[in-house]
Parts: sequence; structure tokens; C-alpha cells
Amino acid sequence: MCGIVGYAGPQSPSSTPLEVLLEGLARLEYRGYDSAGVALVTPGGIASAKRAGKLENLRTALADDPLPDATAGIGHTRWATHGRPTDENAHPHLSEDGRLAVIHNGIIENFHALKDELLAEGVTFRSETDTEVAAHLLSRAFAETQNLTEAMRTVVARLTGAFTLLAVEAGTPDRVVGARRNSPLVVGLGEGENFLGSDVAAFISRTNRALELGQDQIVTITAHSVEVTDFQGNPVENTEYTVDWDASAAVKGGYATFMEKEIHEQPKAVADTLLGRLDDQGRLELDELRLDTAVLKRINKIIVVACGTAAYAGHVAKYAIEHWCRIPVEVELAHEFRYRDPVVNEQTLVVAVSQSGETMDTLQAIRHAKDQDSKVLAIVNTHGSTIAREADAVLYTHAGPEVAVASTKAFLAQITAAYVLGLYLAQLRGNKYAEEVAGYLEELAQLPEKIQQVLDGADHIREVARSMKDVPSVLFLGRHVGYPVAMEGALKLKELAYIHAEGFAAGELKHGPIALVEEGTPVFMIVPTRRRPELHAKVVSNIQEVRARGARTLVIAEEGDADVEAFADVVFRVPETPTLMLPLLTVVPLQIFACELAGAKGLDVDQPRNLAKSVTVE
Ligand code: AGP
Repeated sequence: MCGIVGYAGPQSPSSTPLEVLLEGLARLEYRGYDSAGVALVTPGGIASAKRAGKLENLRTALADDPLPDATAGIGHTRWATHGRPTDENAHPHLSEDGRLAVIHNGIIENFHALKDELLAEGVTFRSETDTEVAAHLLSRAFAETQNLTEAMRTVVARLTGAFTLLAVEAGTPDRVVGARRNSPLVVGLGEGENFLGSDVAAFISRTNRALELGQDQIVTITAHSVEVTDFQGNPVENTEYTVDWDASAAVKGGYATFMEKEIHEQPKAVADTLLGRLDDQGRLELDELRLDTAVLKRINKIIVVACGTAAYAGHVAKYAIEHWCRIPVEVELAHEFRYRDPVVNEQTLVVAVSQSGETMDTLQAIRHAKDQDSKVLAIVNTHGSTIAREADAVLYTHAGPEVAVASTKAFLAQITAAYVLGLYLAQLRGNKYAEEVAGYLEELAQLPEKIQQVLDGADHIREVARSMKDVPSVLFLGRHVGYPVAMEGALKLKELAYIHAEGFAAGELKHGPIALVEEGTPVFMIVPTRRRPELHAKVVSNIQEVRARGARTLVIAEEGDADVEAFADVVFRVPETPTLMLPLLTVVPLQIFACELAGAKGLDVDQPRNLAKSVTVE
């Protein structure tokens, strides 16, 4: 989850290396952190400052004790894994002679043995971190090689685990050297300046030209050059790409929070994810998939691996893909999949769903799948991310940068992309006629406008949310595709408002959970479309069951559905919509409800406590 920035470029009146680093760290705040620091290469050697807490603590320290002019530098926001969030444990970490500084994202799994080796050599450690081991090892290697890139190569050969390392050295004033294994790092290509970042947000305001870095690669940047090799020193050619997010996209766009902005960007996120995927006959064309159609025709099982909201998106998609393709679809939490002995083979398609493309649990799950000859397809939102690179095929969502830690527009985009995949498979395997596929695509194409209608009616939802800001617990019930929506609604309330909430299948009510219902218990009920009368009737009777026991029923139902009114204390309406498309509408009131209630409690909805936007450790 740490934020990483590296810069090599001019010291100019308009923007010093320090300002570039601080601006980059500010754009990476959404990743979640608990300390921050910078190190600069100055004529007098390495100059650094680091503080526990938020960036303003670092800015205050820099104002009190300014650092000298510089030609290169590194910056870091740390989300503590080894060692408490203190000034000493903050990055950068320096060598004993103070001539070399290192920042790190990830976990060096063999750091204990390496630390013991260094302690035995008399090294004095100042922190509790695994990172400091890398600083001392680099210092020793540099003493031998007198070349920072070579020193990095020597050190990474000894490390196991997940790491992105950046280093600067006093006698090498024009460059930053980085290395990555199982952890994100991208290069920003500027004019007379170059950047490194844990994601493109670190430099997006200065350049939209980026370079993917692959697994086990070392990069050396100066103001005018970028050199990439593998860990053995062999030059590597990487793909340059243009980031289609401008700096403004990462700003709140007039909303009070990123969360509100992103909820309101959902119509566009769905529309953009559908864009460019039809040929001129209106048939689906997914040439970005990079998967042989013969392989896709042989698939006889799909396993979705993901975490959190992304897993719920996969759960929604399960209903559609099974219905369209007649292929069994399992949805497995990535961290569970990795440690069980799943039945996976060359006829299994593992679909990894991830907004960040860096979730370590999901990344390790796809590696587990590939070890067993399964094909892996990634549905990710972040171009050039590790999961995108390691999968056999990628289907990008186009939700744009999702900055708020709690996922909203990415969720809808993930369902959309998974539906496109399902329809593509149905088309390819002949399960659905072209006109049937076109019909479903048309239903999808109508969703942005329908989502907008739900957003336009949000005042009612907000008013109810504010009135409920002191509730201690909320239940969410749904059936069929409404079931994962119920779980997602509960997750939103938990992570934003810190309220206990539980989502479960409405049919499960009488098998235990109904014991929770007492006078005034708030119960959300996601009601299926009336086009499925057998489903609809069951859920209406579920509303009666909880209402009879005193529950306060908050019902999400289609326009015109009068059956629910007799048993609903509150009704949130969504436009009439086919069953499989309904989740992209019914989740929106739940997102708004959670966001508004958290705001009414005075909580930070963009960076909730204890959470990080991308969980890059297991
Ligand atoms: C969602 O609101 C949470 N922030 C979390 O559950 C998230 O969906 C999960 O960590 C997966 O992240 P990813 O999509 O980046 O892989």
C-alpha cells in the first residue's frame, strides 16, 4: 500500500525535485499510509526528512528545517507492516555512512536472516523495519561496485518476498535506481526529467507517458535517460503507453469527496467499459483478450478469484455467465483459493477481478492457478498493473482512477466487463444467437442512463441516511443477483461508517438470522424485478416476515412495484430493468446511503480508518 515517488530532473525555480516528490506523494495519499519521508541528492550529500503521521507533518518539518537544492530524489508514504508508524521507522532508510538512501514497498520475507548477518558484522540498526536491511546491503554492495545500478543488482539477488526498492547515492547525483519484484513500479517519461512511481498518480500531473516495468527488473533514471535490465543485467525493452487519465481526473471535480465524485461517475464508467468492444456488425470483438479462441471454446469451468468488492462483482457475474454460457462458475475469495487444493486444469479459466491490479492475495491466487496450467484472464482497472501483466489475458475496465478507498464505480465497471466476457464466450461458443447477444448488449447500453436516474433521486436516500446516523447495526437481504448486492451494501456501510452490518441471502433468513430482528432493526431488502414473479414473491414475503417482527424495512424496488408498499417503511426506487442488469442499479442507493451516513458521522469517507486502497501484502 505504500506510495513511492522517484525523480531525476532539473532544480528549477518553477519546481524543485522536492516539490515534485511532495506533489507525487500527495496524489498517492489515497493508498493509505501512516508516515512519510523524502531523501534528496544534494551537493553536500544525501539530505532527508521523515515523520510519522500525515504529509503535513513532513511539510512542517521541511519548513522548519529546509533541505538544500537537489538534482534527484525519492519520496515515500508508508503503511506500516514491520514496525510501528514512528519517525524512525518511516522511510527513507539511510546507510550507516549516510551516503545512500532507500525506500521500499512490500515485504522482504528473509530480512531476519539478513539482519542477523549484518548485526554480526557490527551494523547498527536504527529502525524495526525490514527495509533498513536493504539500505545496509546496498551500502556494502556500492562500496564494492562503485555503481548504484550494479549494487542494486547485487542486493536484489539476495532478497525474497515482495519489494519495490528505490535508492539514491550521494556520489551519483543525477540518478535514481529502482527494482521491483511482486510489487508495483511504473516509469513516467518527461521532457528533461523522468519519474518513478508506485502508480501513475505519482507523476500524472507532469507527464502521461508511462513505461511498464515487468517482474524482476531494475530501472535507472536520469533527467535524460531510462535504462531497464533484468536482475541479471540483460537489457529489457518495455512497452511505453499513454495514461488516459489527466490530472484533473484525480481531483474531486467539484464534489466534497472522491467517494461522491466516483459514485456519480458510474454512468460513464459503465459506458466507457462498453466502448470499443463491438465490430461494425455489432458483434463483440475482444482482440485485447490475447487468448486463443480455441482455448476459450475448450473451457469447461470458470473460477473467479478476487477480494472484497471485486469478489462481489464476480458473484453477480456468476449468475449471468452461467445463464448465458452454461459453464459452471465458482467464485472464490483469492486468499482462500490460494491455500485450498482447487480442481484446476487447462480447461479451467481463472478470472481475476481487481481494481488496482496489485492486490497481493489475488496476484498470488493467479500464480497458483497458472502453476496448475489454468489460463488466467484479468479484469482490472489499472493499466500496466502487476496482475494485468502476469495474466494470460486482460479485459480492462475503463472506470478511470478510483481514488476513494471504498470501491464504487470500479464495482459497476467490473460487472460490466464480466458481462461482456460472458456474452463474448456465449457468442464464441454458440450458446447464444447473435441477436440474443445484441439484445443483452442493448440492455447494458441502457444502464448508464438508468443509473443516472437513480443518482438524480439521491436526495431522498441522503435524507434517510442522515436520520439513521446513530443506528448500531443494519441487515441487508437479497435473493439471486440481489444477494451479492446485499453483501456489497453491508461492506460499504462497514468500511465507511464503521457500523456493524451483515448481508445475506433472503432465503437464509428463517435458517437463523431472523433471530437478530427486533423492534426497529433496520433491514434493507433488495427486491427482484417483477419479470421474475417467483423470485419477486419470495422476497416480498421476506419483507413481511421481518416487518412482522418489528423491523424497519428499507426496500429497493423497481418503479411501479406496488406489491412492496404495504410492508415497506421506506422505498428507494430504481427504473424497471431485466433481472441480470438490476444489480448495477440497486447497489447505487446502498453506496449513497453508506457515504451519506458516514459523512453525517463526520468520518473521512475517502480514507476510512485501518483501510488501504490497494492491499499489496498478504
Ligand atoms: C472495497 O470497497 C474495498 N476497498 C476492498 O474490499 C477492495 O474491493 C478489495 O481490497 C479488492 O481490491 P482490488 O479490486 O484492487 O483488487
